[in-house]
Amino acid sequence: MRLLKNLFENNAAWAEKIKSEDPRFFETLSTQQAPDYLWIGCADSRVPANEIVGLMPGELFVHRNVANVVVHTDFNCLSVIQYAVEVLKVEHIIVCGHYGCGGVRAALQPDGNLCLIDNWLRHIRDIYHRNRDLLDAIPGDDERTDRLCELNVMEQVANVSNTTILNAAWKSGQKIAVHGWIYSLHNGLLRDLGVTADQARG
Ligand code: CO
Repeated sequence: MRLLKNLFENNAAWAEKIKSEDPRFFETLSTQQAPDYLWIGCADSRVPANEIVGLMPGELFVHRNVANVVVHTDFNCLSVIQYAVEVLKVEHIIVCGHYGCGGVRAALQPDGNLCLIDNWLRHIRDIYHRNRDLLDAIPGDDERTDRLCELNVMEQVANVSNTTILNAAWKSGQKIAVHGWIYSLHNGLLRDLGVTADQARG
């Protein structure tokens, strides 16, 4: 049986490096976490949340799934949002998509394999249908995928903003903003899509 020795070696070296820079780092962090941000991103291995924004363990609360989708009946995602908002009292929720997202690309294919993930991607295909004229007018497949990646982020920002959790938080006067960002695999840079919400939409 392979025991992934290389990963344990990496881990030991990483922990040692952190401790050499701050001997009390793990001791302090083990007693509490107080992140200011919740990150909702894609599960894609090329989009590692903490690294992209240069944050250490303890500074970013993270939820990732295929194509950064927020569904009103997904109790996994909703539980993360609730804990982040009500207990951790994060000040910012960042929905971060990325260009060239495989989930978004698959959602643009008319005939999926009709397997489990097609049900998940159906949420994105619904966004395609609502924006069909705009998207079908884009000639290249990559460009069309990238535009839908942006529209998907905007949709998920709206979905986060429309949860009972955010509505209750805003109603009680809690200061919290929901942002929509997109990441480029080509240059490692983030872009703000300018759809920040900081109050209930009604
Ligand atoms: Co993706």
